Amino acid sequence: MEFGGERVLDSINLDIEDKAFVTLLGPSGCGKTTTLRIIGGFQKPTSGDVLFDGSSIIDLPAYKRQINTVFQNYALFPHLDVYENIAFGLRISRLSEAEIDRRVTEMLASVSLRGFENRKITSLSGGQQQRVAIARALVNRPKVLLLDEPLGALDLRLRKDMQTELKKIQQEVGITFVYVTHDQEEALAMSDTVVVMDAGRIQQVGTPEDIYNEPVNAFVADFIGESNILDGTMPCDYKVRMFGREFECVDKGFAPNEPVDIVIRPEDIDIVPADQGLLCGTVTQVTFKGVHYDTIVDFRGFKWLIQTTDFCPEGSYIGIRINPEDIQVMHRSEYSGLYGDYSSYSAEYEELVEEETEEE
Ligand SMILES: Nc1ncnc2c1ncn2[C@@H]1O[C@H](COP(=O)(O)OP(=O)(O)OP(=O)(O)O)[C@@H](O)[C@H]1O
Ligand SMILES: [Mg+2]
Repeated sequence: MEFGGERVLDSINLDIEDKAFVTLLGPSGCGKTTTLRIIGGFQKPTSGDVLFDGSSIIDLPAYKRQINTVFQNYALFPHLDVYENIAFGLRISRLSEAEIDRRVTEMLASVSLRGFENRKITSLSGGQQQRVAIARALVNRPKVLLLDEPLGALDLRLRKDMQTELKKIQQEVGITFVYVTHDQEEALAMSDTVVVMDAGRIQQVGTPEDIYNEPVNAFVADFIGESNILDGTMPCDYKVRMFGREFECVDKGFAPNEPVDIVIRPEDIDIVPADQGLLCGTVTQVTFKGVHYDTIVDFRGFKWLIQTTDFCPEGSYIGIRINPEDIQVMHRSEYSGLYGDYSSYSAEYEELVEEETEEE
């Protein structure tokens, strides 16, 4: 997809399975909405095709596709009540009054809004309006529902509730959901398949577990969850070298001594007495987080984040061990070297807290 000669989507090749919950996840501007608009028929790609059940739908206008969209601002009709908002599309299709009533009533039950039939849209909470928007999009029985950051306007608690609710609705009605978010936790919690995007390209497609445990490059590792991303080499299969030491790992198929990126999740690192450690370092900062301590440890000038329930005071000299399966080795990419260590962790953390407070 190009706009004025500028390529905003490049080589997008994606299979979406029937009845799957698929999430497009990526930072602002990476091309999520554009991808969704192409699927929905609101945007024609510069080149390429969109197939539905094996046939091209690229020339089919949006309203003729068996696809509906829930927009972020809901776009409900404020002058109609809940019932009429949901019935709107059915009236346009000229269904019988009895059929309309049957379908609207069924939808109201699916989104837990029984008894809200005659309520005015303006009297509803954000979450309730959201559910009306979903009911309205589903009542026409599309094969695919597209949702573009549908929970973006809701506060954190309601967002969490609606995540569970949406997943339940999707399973009940048994249709394909293509969901857009830039919130990685939301993507992991809800999806069967996560499509991680950056800069107009698909970086990785996989289950939430794949994406988290086996990121393919430093971008995915950094974007999903927290990670220590380190430089290393692969001397041979099942061995990786970093910090001048060799570690056992489960990765293979790299060229001899190939330079690689290594990701180690903060919760996968065990703290042991220094004399038993594969690496030893000094604790430089400890933050209590409720479930665990965020512990920053300096290994020869490179600061790792370790999440542990063992309290190690600042200044203590500790060892660490890592199980071979918790070391993920990745080929170098254009993202190599972009992600620093946790030296500035406390500053970053404070910025995050400030942003969250501002959002609320
Ligand atoms: N109609 C348009 N004309 C020109 N550029 C556009 C147009 N629509 C989108 N773009 C550009 O395409 C890129 C991808 O935009 P898109 O809206 O798909 O991003 P996004 O991943 O949905 O981001 P966000 O999370 O902020 O919603 C951006 O650089 C955007 O400026
Ligand atoms: Mg968008």
